[in-house]
Amino acid sequence: MSTQTDPRLSLDADAIQALLGRSLLKTPDYDTRAMGALVSVAEAFARLDAAGVKTPLLPAELAYAVFFDNSTRTKSAWAGAAARLGMQPVIVDGSSTQVAHGETAEETGAMLGMNAHALGIRHDLILGEGRAFLQDLKKGIDDYNAGLGTPRQVPVVNLQCDLDHPTQAIADLMFLREKFGGDIRGKKIAVSWAYSPSYAKPLSVPQGLIMLLSRYGAELTLAQPEGYPLLDESLDLARAHSAASGGSFRVTHDMDDAFRGADVVYPKSWGPLTLMQERVTNKDKLGEIEARMLAQNAQFTDWICDERRMGLTHNAQYMHCLPADIGAEVTAGVMDRFRFDLAREANQKLYVIMAMLATAKVPGLAAQLERLWETR
Ligand code: CP
Repeated sequence: MSTQTDPRLSLDADAIQALLGRSLLKTPDYDTRAMGALVSVAEAFARLDAAGVKTPLLPAELAYAVFFDNSTRTKSAWAGAAARLGMQPVIVDGSSTQVAHGETAEETGAMLGMNAHALGIRHDLILGEGRAFLQDLKKGIDDYNAGLGTPRQVPVVNLQCDLDHPTQAIADLMFLREKFGGDIRGKKIAVSWAYSPSYAKPLSVPQGLIMLLSRYGAELTLAQPEGYPLLDESLDLARAHSAASGGSFRVTHDMDDAFRGADVVYPKSWGPLTLMQERVTNKDKLGEIEARMLAQNAQFTDWICDERRMGLTHNAQYMHCLPADIGAEVTAGVMDRFRFDLAREANQKLYVIMAMLATAKVPGLAAQLERLWETR
């Protein structure tokens, strides 16, 4: 992966070319070389954008995204990424589609994908359903294209499912690489549960973080109260990745313990697992289950990122995917201190989406980016 100071972009052209036609539905889909290639392209797009170089590599193409949950940043990043690539972005509310009337994900994939040139999906509320929807949607358009015998590529971008939030996790990795000179090896990173009274948040952000950051030799600590475990598959991957990368991964039930000596803290809320699982089978009781989740959260109001806890750290970088519950997950003072950094963190997602779309669709991408870099 190139660094911000390289005179050239120094891209691994073969590894980038190997991403043609691929969709990243969760970060473990890409091995470390493939992930490195993707991140290097995202960083190249960030540098080109900062230098004012236009990158219309996919003109007159449609980038269609469907959101089955609320979003500010990811919708905006999708639109910004598509516009910078010369594509036309369209974003629709999932509840307004025929999925709400029972049309399957596979049918929806074929119908949307025959018109669009890339599909983005957010489907993060019910455990197991988002990832299945993404896979079936991709099968729908892939089968349709195979029936036509067309080489046309319609990558599917996971804009957050129940397991992973890959554009967020990769954006967070980019932010950390920028902060720590391209390498997070040996950095003590605390991913912690924090109190939220607003709504029961998906597990996919902390899961995405531990699955991805564990690949790069970080010393990761996951902190959570009893009753808030993440899914086993994400924990198993975090352990395996940490062992392979020479980092470490541990779980604690003490937020102070996680913060002590940390270089980075990422305190955010997620829902209690047994009630998240109950949502899967009791969809007619979502309101009642939500109220029970918030009542359970309320037992842990002291899980807040405040100045006392920041004082336990090694002058830590505070991170959050946003939106944060100010006064619950984090104090207003800590939030204010890191406001610019949080915006910088959020801004990386734009370039991650550009990289996912361009690597999947543009042959000879590395050479094209190098040529564009020379024009600045
Ligand atoms: N962090 C994040 O995904 O933000 P949005 O929910 O606003 O897209």
